[in-house]
Amino acid sequence: MTVAVRAPEPILVDVALGARSYEIVIGRGTLPSLGTRMAALRPGAKAAVITDATVAGHHLAAAEAALALGGIGATVVTVPPGESSKSFAVLEQVCESLIAARIERGDLVVALGGGVVGDLAGFAAAVVRRGLDYVQVPTTLLAQVDSSVGGKTAIDSKHGKNLVGAFHQPILVVADTALLDTLPKREFRAGYAEMAKFGLLGDAAFFSWLEANWQDIFAGAAAREHAIAVCCRGKADIVARDERETGERALLNLGHTFGHALEAGAGFSGRLLHGEAVALGMVLAFEFSARKGLVADADAARARAHLAAVGLPTHLKQVPGGVPGIDALMDLIAQDKKVKRGKLTFILVRGIGQAFVANDVSAAEVRAFLADKLAEL
Ligand SMILES: NC(=O)c1ccc[n+]([C@@H]2O[C@H](COP(=O)([O-])OP(=O)(O)OC[C@H]3O[C@@H](n4cnc5c(N)ncnc54)[C@H](O)[C@@H]3O)[C@@H](O)[C@H]2O)c1
Ligand SMILES: [Zn+2]
Repeated sequence: MTVAVRAPEPILVDVALGARSYEIVIGRGTLPSLGTRMAALRPGAKAAVITDATVAGHHLAAAEAALALGGIGATVVTVPPGESSKSFAVLEQVCESLIAARIERGDLVVALGGGVVGDLAGFAAAVVRRGLDYVQVPTTLLAQVDSSVGGKTAIDSKHGKNLVGAFHQPILVVADTALLDTLPKREFRAGYAEMAKFGLLGDAAFFSWLEANWQDIFAGAAAREHAIAVCCRGKADIVARDERETGERALLNLGHTFGHALEAGAGFSGRLLHGEAVALGMVLAFEFSARKGLVADADAARARAHLAAVGLPTHLKQVPGGVPGIDALMDLIAQDKKVKRGKLTFILVRGIGQAFVANDVSAAEVRAFLADKLAEL
């Protein structure tokens, strides 16, 4: 007797935003349901799939087959992989392609890829014809736990990351965890930094669970779906309370001010991936908080120990090619977050799972802290 191989029931997470509410569908083998789910939401819609060349090689055929199952024909727009595609030039190509393909209001844009494709396609969807609906099909761990949820879309400016964008919520997120099996280990690990971030910023029990179960997440066991769902639920709750980041949503930036400075210092290159920079940034946020007497040294050590255990960089000396000097670092930090009368806004911590927004961090204090860190190198 043959037993039909059937994907287990997916985990569903709601993002409750009134008329802009949507569902996140998480599970191994959820991609084939994409077309029928889209057709149920927007009967008769055409689609345009935006993807990058690497993702297309692995998963485009399966995505097109899934759309065909829902009776949906799709145009495909393929962009080069990497952060450099979050540019005005590539945005222009994507917008012109959508218009040329006669994607109208009522049709759907599908972002098939990591955070780069999600941010780019989401922004194109926000602006073409003053707003098209779109669907996120995240293919990196980072995108499945973070960037595909919450409606932040953007491209980069020569002045910095994500400076041109819009809040534009997707109408559906389909996260097929099997797609992560083709992701290079280093990219998976970088995405894991954002996963650990959810524990470190607001969920101590989840952080403890990660400490015990992270190997199963990497191995692709059911722990992976569970952990992605915890992160999506955590993010969905925060976004539902503070969609436009006037308060609590800023907690999701834990580690990002230091991290973005290091990422920019490395030229947004393969030298330091976003998640790797965030891991370093979170360690720095914990250590800076410890230095200010806000958090116990033991908690800072515990955060670092876990990130190091999974193989993420936790010491500045681990940045290949080195880090910028103190003046350049402080300039980059000032660019990322506005300095108001010598005060910076940072996400600091009082413990594992207890992050808070500090609006009055003195730039001089940050400088002294980083200067000491650089002196250790
Ligand atoms: N909008 C948000 O809320 C938000 C949140 C966090 C990060 N971001 C943005 O996300 C971006 C980073 O996203 P990312 O880390 O996913 O990077 P990415 O999209 O560049 O993907 C990383 C690499 O993996 C490849 N790849 C993707 N899926 C694959 C798969 N399944 N198999 C094999 N290779 C695959 C890509 O081609 C790329 O080379 C940054 O630009 C960051 O600013 C946005
Ligand atoms: Zn991030």
